[in-house]
Amino acid sequence: MKPLRIALTKGRLEKDTVKLLEAAGFDCTAVREKGRRLILPIGDGNIEVVLAKAADVITYVENGVCDLGVVGKDTIMENGRSFYEILDLGFGKCRFALAGKKGFDFFSGYDERTIATKYPNVTRTFFEGKGMDIRVIKIEGSVELAPLLGLADAIVDIVETGSTLKENGLVIIEDNVAPISARLIANSASLKLRKAEIEELAYKMEEERKKMQ
Ligand code: PRP
Repeated sequence: MKPLRIALTKGRLEKDTVKLLEAAGFDCTAVREKGRRLILPIGDGNIEVVLAKAADVITYVENGVCDLGVVGKDTIMENGRSFYEILDLGFGKCRFALAGKKGFDFFSGYDERTIATKYPNVTRTFFEGKGMDIRVIKIEGSVELAPLLGLADAIVDIVETGSTLKENGLVIIEDNVAPISARLIANSASLKLRKAEIEELAYKMEEERKKMQ
């Protein structure tokens, strides 16, 4: 049988997932010594890890070329379509926040506000909930620059420790948008066809997650 494929979001989530998989007894040497390789066997070779960018993890899982994926809830909220979210992995914890320059009264006045963000869908939904019309400008990274350079009135971004905001003179206006953490997602057909394997892996990951918390 083909190996079970799990797509990991490259970077921090990949490292935390590898730690969890190792604690669950899977040999992840190939991932640790990957060099520039992007598909790597783990354990006894029945599982293959695929390293991808966050939004692409969702694309590969949705299209069934990967059975499982590890991706942040932020990316799911922005891009989520049709797959199953089967486990909260507990790491990669952060939250969405609306933030702006210190001293700026975001909600006063009648001028339409401009928001810079990597998450236009999340941002639109958030402001629709408030009944506020806003203009969204999509930024690819270091969103904190946009209000500093005068491109936007505020940003919607993920905040973990808050240091990036603080060191750039920005403050949180609201941070009750949504709590975020890494999730294990599954392709819907894989969940039926490879149920036992997926359940076994998810169970092992969940057990280790409980021990780590
Ligand atoms: C994320 C996020 C913030 C920062 C928040 O950026 O977009 O900039 O981390 O973390 P903190 O609250 O602990 O400071 P990331 O490191 O993913 O880089 P990017 O902005 O280039 O996407």
